Amino acid sequence: MAKLIDGKGFSEQLVDRLKPAVADITKATGQPPGLAVVLVGEDPASRVYVRNKTERSKAAGLHSAEYRLPAETSQQEVLKLIDQLNRDASIHGILVQLPLPPQIEAAAVIQAIDPAKDVDGFHIVNAGLLATGQEALVPCTPWGCLLLLRDLLGDMSGLNAVILGRSNIVGKPMAQLLLAENATVTIAHSRSRDLPGLCRSADILVAAVGRPEMVKQDWIKPGAVVIDVGINRVPAPERGPDKFRLTGDVDFAGAEQVAAAITPVPGGVGPMTIACLLRNTIVAAARQGGVAINLTD
Ligand code: GUN
Repeated sequence: MAKLIDGKGFSEQLVDRLKPAVADITKATGQPPGLAVVLVGEDPASRVYVRNKTERSKAAGLHSAEYRLPAETSQQEVLKLIDQLNRDASIHGILVQLPLPPQIEAAAVIQAIDPAKDVDGFHIVNAGLLATGQEALVPCTPWGCLLLLRDLLGDMSGLNAVILGRSNIVGKPMAQLLLAENATVTIAHSRSRDLPGLCRSADILVAAVGRPEMVKQDWIKPGAVVIDVGINRVPAPERGPDKFRLTGDVDFAGAEQVAAAITPVPGGVGPMTIACLLRNTIVAAARQGGVAINLTD
């Protein structure tokens, strides 16, 4: 039976280790690290993510400002808000929750964020720094996955890592991070041939496709480590009409029979994403305030 990877517990330890840095920055600059979270529209999952990000930021002693804009907001209005936040000295990190409504081009909004405040790590400057092995603000979800993998495996040199999904948010940065750990990396996606066979070659399997329970037990090499990034809302009629449950991209019950270790959904990768967002905001605030902080991971 697979070991259950406790992302919730691990993320709490991570946030505890950030507290001295929050105190140092607040003392040195006279203000806490500040995070602005922008939500456009009413997507129910996004609303939950944004609320969690704001609440966890406040609990960690950060200043957190939430901007909720109606679904019909124009791109120009969003860009105006970004410009205002770029110039706001109390804000050190800006996060625009994705997806955005169709009239707004996500790339245009992301590129408008000051790269120094881009705590999602989505700006081309940060993506380029990561791809070329330089110090970057790293996307939170893949960074959280990497911290779990490092804790579990230590040295990943020569291990076969297969990433299911090629998004800018998870798949591509995850590949960069695993390459930097000397893993042999494959990015597989919807057009890949023989997905089950590719997955079966993986010592490390990261599933980030957004398809509920797509990865089956016989796709997993015995002894592999499985990181399930998916958070899918699926109908749960057994809980009553209109009820949902959360499930990952991996068939958990099957996978835990063969994997060495696996992340649960919820309670695996999700809390790590938020811990890494707080970490990025603190790092960004320290750089902007010229404060030296000592974070080990
Ligand atoms: N939507 C899904 N994941 C993310 C994320 O990590 N950051 C933002 N801003 N939006 C998302």
